[in-house]
Amino acid sequence: MLNLLMREEVLLVVQNSYHIILVALFTIGVTYFASKAWKTATTNNREEIPGRLGLPFVGETFSFLSATNSTRGCYDFVRLRRLWNGKWFKTRLFGKIHIFVPNPEGARTIFANDFVLFNKGYVKSMADAVGEKSLLCVPVESHKRIRRLLSEPFSMTSLCAFVTKFDKLLCGRLQKLEENGKSFKVLDFCMKMTFDAMCDMLMSVTEDSLLRQIEEDCNAVSDAMLSIPIMIPGTRYYKGITARKRLMETFRGIIARRRRGEETPEDFLQSMLQRDSLPPSEKLDDSEIMDNLLTLIIAGQTTTAAAMMWSIKFLHDNREAQDILREEQLSITKMKPDGASINHEDLNSIRYGLKVVKETLRMSNVLLWFPRVALQDCTIEGYEIKKGWHVNIDATYIHHDSDLYKEPLKFNPQRFDEQKKPYSFIPFGSGPRTCLGINMAKVTMLVFLHRLAGGYTWTLDDLDTCLEKKAHIPRLRSGCPITLKSLSKTMLEA
Ligand code: HEM
Repeated sequence: MLNLLMREEVLLVVQNSYHIILVALFTIGVTYFASKAWKTATTNNREEIPGRLGLPFVGETFSFLSATNSTRGCYDFVRLRRLWNGKWFKTRLFGKIHIFVPNPEGARTIFANDFVLFNKGYVKSMADAVGEKSLLCVPVESHKRIRRLLSEPFSMTSLCAFVTKFDKLLCGRLQKLEENGKSFKVLDFCMKMTFDAMCDMLMSVTEDSLLRQIEEDCNAVSDAMLSIPIMIPGTRYYKGITARKRLMETFRGIIARRRRGEETPEDFLQSMLQRDSLPPSEKLDDSEIMDNLLTLIIAGQTTTAAAMMWSIKFLHDNREAQDILREEQLSITKMKPDGASINHEDLNSIRYGLKVVKETLRMSNVLLWFPRVALQDCTIEGYEIKKGWHVNIDATYIHHDSDLYKEPLKFNPQRFDEQKKPYSFIPFGSGPRTCLGINMAKVTMLVFLHRLAGGYTWTLDDLDTCLEKKAHIPRLRSGCPITLKSLSKTMLEA
């Protein structure tokens, strides 16, 4: 009875307050969804970046080293973490937090704020090896001046003489290799070609024994750039620092001979020394010249040689592209007198060849990612980045993103018929640190493709696709051995 009475009372209250309850429920609902939406709006863009940091300091360093030490290459470390975490991820390497930035928008934010919100991290072994006045190490004010003064000899017009010299050197060496008829490693060949051509262009060194001594020392310096900076005989750091001392002696000797007027060739070094009488803001001092000579050689040789090697591999695997390229080169050769060198203007006609260069750089990703350190707390694409974190512009991912490149694993030079979205094609970086040797790299590759495809066919003598271990620039472990056959012989046989 009492129960029935209470139920009726409750029913009465509910009936009388029906509207109030409805309004209350509605208000609670709206408040709940509004607060959720607010939370999404304010935090979605500040999401935690997923990823494992692992133990303090050690983090995932051993996995990274193990990938670097495998024939899959160090990018395998990044690839796996993307599979586990998604496009954005963080990790801890050598005690530092690293974020891999996977899109053009993020790349734009970093490039546009280079030297302001981000900078290259200071690595002691690198500064000790290439020198504190190297473009890679100097602070922003010196960087602007040094870069401005170094740039002129690398402009397209200044590279005219380089193009012809490189062409002659290349033609002679390719002819010998073809006559010899034996297999040779494209990578070794290109390392030597680019090194010799650069030393000639920079400081007119052409004597073979001196070239080989400089090359050996440059390799030791390059190996020491990312090593433990302790001077113990036998270590990479020790070997690099002693090689650097020898190189500086050699450069000092060449500069002294030029100042005494014993040698006055027209080259990069001479153009720097001609500024001797100008005010300090318009010239480089001797240590700036020497550190940057070394930097240019190291930054230019391995990168260009690796790209040249990949172009041969990709063209071997894609006969259609190779045939189109060959046709273009033959049509250019036909227009010129027999045996004439290629010049700067001819390069403008190598339109398909330029697309082959671009596609090679997209597919091979000579520099896998571009590292920076955040100078203050900031956000990239809504993700919070703390001061001191390392942000790596992941050019490899951007160049293989299927939203940006249809069938990204296919070698298709024609895809460059279309204009690409800003910051979606960045093999030479962008902003104030854009590759200084961009023109030199492009003309070197164009001349190489012109002579190879326009003069020869080749067979690839090792189909192994494994990558070289412990290399930060992806290169075939085999060195890409090929055997050349001149086109005239191929045509006679056909
Ligand atoms: C295919 C060949 C090459 C590729 C893919 C390449 C790529 C790059 C990239 C991506 C950067 C910027 C890195 C960053 O932002 O952290 C860079 C910087 C640089 N490159 Fe290249 N490079 C090549 C050839 C060359 C050549 C031939 C030279 C010189 C002769 C050269 C000299 C430099 C220098 C000095 C810098 C530092 C610029 C600065 O910090 O202001 N590179 N390169």
